[in-house]
Amino acid sequence: MSTTWSEFYKLAFQEVFKNLKLVNGIAVGLNTNVDAIYHMRSERIVELIHKLDIDSVSLYKKIVKWKGIIEEPDDYVAGLCGCFEKGKASEWLIQNEDTYNFLLENLPIDRTLRMGGQAGIMANALSELGLRKVIVHSNTLPNELKKLFTRNKNLVMPVFNKNREVVFTHPRKVKTIDDRLYLHLISEIHKNDGIKIGASIEWICPKNNRFIATFDPPNAELKILDSFREGIELIATSTDAIILSGFHLLNTTELGLEKVKERIMAVLKLTKQAKISNPNILLHLELSSTKNNVILLELFKLLRKDVYWDSIGCNERELAEVLSVIGESKLAKEISREPFQKKVLDGCSKVCQKLSLKRLHLHQFGCYTVLTKDDYSIPNELVKKSLCFASLITAQKANTGKIKRDLDVDSLISSTRIDSHLTKAYKELVTILKEEPDINEDEFRTLGIAKYHGFNLISVPTILVDKPKFTVGLGDTISSTTLAAEIALKKLQSNN
Ligand code: GLC
Repeated sequence: MSTTWSEFYKLAFQEVFKNLKLVNGIAVGLNTNVDAIYHMRSERIVELIHKLDIDSVSLYKKIVKWKGIIEEPDDYVAGLCGCFEKGKASEWLIQNEDTYNFLLENLPIDRTLRMGGQAGIMANALSELGLRKVIVHSNTLPNELKKLFTRNKNLVMPVFNKNREVVFTHPRKVKTIDDRLYLHLISEIHKNDGIKIGASIEWICPKNNRFIATFDPPNAELKILDSFREGIELIATSTDAIILSGFHLLNTTELGLEKVKERIMAVLKLTKQAKISNPNILLHLELSSTKNNVILLELFKLLRKDVYWDSIGCNERELAEVLSVIGESKLAKEISREPFQKKVLDGCSKVCQKLSLKRLHLHQFGCYTVLTKDDYSIPNELVKKSLCFASLITAQKANTGKIKRDLDVDSLISSTRIDSHLTKAYKELVTILKEEPDINEDEFRTLGIAKYHGFNLISVPTILVDKPKFTVGLGDTISSTTLAAEIALKKLQSNN
């Protein structure tokens, strides 16, 4: 009899958990910030609409237009309401400081400050998991941000000592750095919340998700700390993986095209230097959604000319955005319209092929999928265990807002009844795979491993959380935790 999913989950957790110490370290950059989280229930949204005196017709027009940037407070309300109506998460950049200040003053006063940005979120997650070393990059360090880093000693930042040598210090202790604070305004919106505006608008929010409004000049320049850049050799040789993100925050209007290219190249140069310093290092790009095509076009034009990354992490939306700039706009549109698993999977393999990736990790609600090439150094079974581990850690974070090493694996697993109720996304994946000549549907359902168009396909049904405390940052947690687990298991295997 093959192992059930719940048995496999338990086994995977024990094995990864015991061996995370085998990871030498992981470095994460570039975007770290403070998130201000507002739970925007419908009453609050309606209150804001009244306060700003927005009429329902002009609001609806703005939602349909889906501008993707915030030039004035009304644009913020349009983005927020659009996410509420469609249940899709978005991040829009605020274009001027006055609008940012206005929103800060006019959004509800009760908010929670949390660690934000891919780098910040992943750094805290990996640090809590107990890796030996987690190196984080942040180009600002106001007190509000310092306080949000875990206190664990394994978390460090590269800084210069008196002799301008790069040394590692806990971010709470770092002094000499830009202390400007720019809060990312995150509105969490809740599934099944209903809203009625005027006579004609009535929506029920279909999915827990969030709308982010960002004004963050240091991250908009994709500034790299000198100590991170000059210390890249030391960083690469002290770690097993570097995970980078932050391109989505580039302000193309302020910087202009040439500067944007320069900023992107500066990051790509880092990846090259890291690989030279440590050829075994795994370089992972974590994507974050952007409507700004200029960034995507420039970034992916460069990524198609040379190999900079081993691996990419994304959700369906980010996948579609990439496809739209690498000559696959038909597929991109189809996925954006309705992310059917067949299209999504084809999209993943196209991205792997066109960018010569060894690995792509797609995190969807209900299903995590990794595609790897045969030369990826981590075997399928270990990737599968890592995905299950990440699913448990992320479910705990969704439930409690925190990552802690002591989690109740049994109750998390039984809450989903994973064996009798496979998730919808996973079931859909299994169904479409029956069309593949070399895949046995029943076998895949219980195993989650197959060969797909020349790639290894590893997929798991995930632990679902009905009422997450926060949705922001869950994708980053999934990606970073999976990678850490993969590295730990690979080291275990090579030690044996
Ligand atoms: C984006 C946002 C940041 C948020 C993160 C979560 O980077 O700018 O505020 O914390 O996404 O994934």
